[in-house]
Amino acid sequence: MDLSSLTIDIVAASYVAALSAISKQTFQEAFGAQNSESDMTAYLAKSFSTEQLLKELHTPGCTFYFARIDGKVIGYMKLNTGAAQSDLQESDSLEIERIYILQPWQGTGIAAAMMELAIDTAKKIEAQSIWLAVWEHNDRAIRFYTKFGFTAFGRHPFILGSDVQTDIMMRKMLV
Ligand SMILES: CC(C)(COP(=O)(O)OP(=O)(O)OC[C@H]1O[C@@H](n2cnc3c(N)ncnc32)[C@H](O)[C@@H]1OP(=O)(O)O)[C@@H](O)C(=O)NCCC(=O)NCCS
Repeated sequence: MDLSSLTIDIVAASYVAALSAISKQTFQEAFGAQNSESDMTAYLAKSFSTEQLLKELHTPGCTFYFARIDGKVIGYMKLNTGAAQSDLQESDSLEIERIYILQPWQGTGIAAAMMELAIDTAKKIEAQSIWLAVWEHNDRAIRFYTKFGFTAFGRHPFILGSDVQTDIMMRKMLV
């Protein structure tokens, strides 16, 4: 896989339509088969509308990144610090709330490049730890995070439409 044209850049609010499109496409690809159509439709409409994403793009401490190959968006990541974190909200931690790559680009090193960027960002702001939450049945993602030194430290609920699921919270210490 030729990654020479890979770029990973902060998403400006003017790209909200592209952000909505890649968010919906990657979530559907990743979880569509294991969830009911009505739960998926409700979740995609609520979480990935341009209105909701615009709110997040303007939230202090919340930053989105696009991964592009030859200029085409093939993945994205959402990092939160401070009060923007979805849980924990420690002043000295950074959350990876989302990291999603289109299927053809999984296993190519692009997700690893995004993870390295997240870890570098956390180190730059002198965060003590970097954390995330992952669906308990998402074996591939759990394996990916484990490779990077994340270990489980808790669980919290994740609501997908009408379905209450369990996320494993994983953390990597940086100091
Ligand atoms: C999670 C994600 C970002 C990881 O990126 P990736 O490029 O697929 O990661 P890698 O291929 O480097 O690592 C995945 C590891 O899981 C392994 N793996 C693949 N399928 C697996 C499975 N079904 N069960 C367990 N491990 C699996 C791979 O072999 C690899 O481990 P290895 O390097 O030891 O061989 C990417 O798969 C993705 O975007 N998935 C869909 C969205 C998603 O689930 N995002 C995370 C939400 S919390």
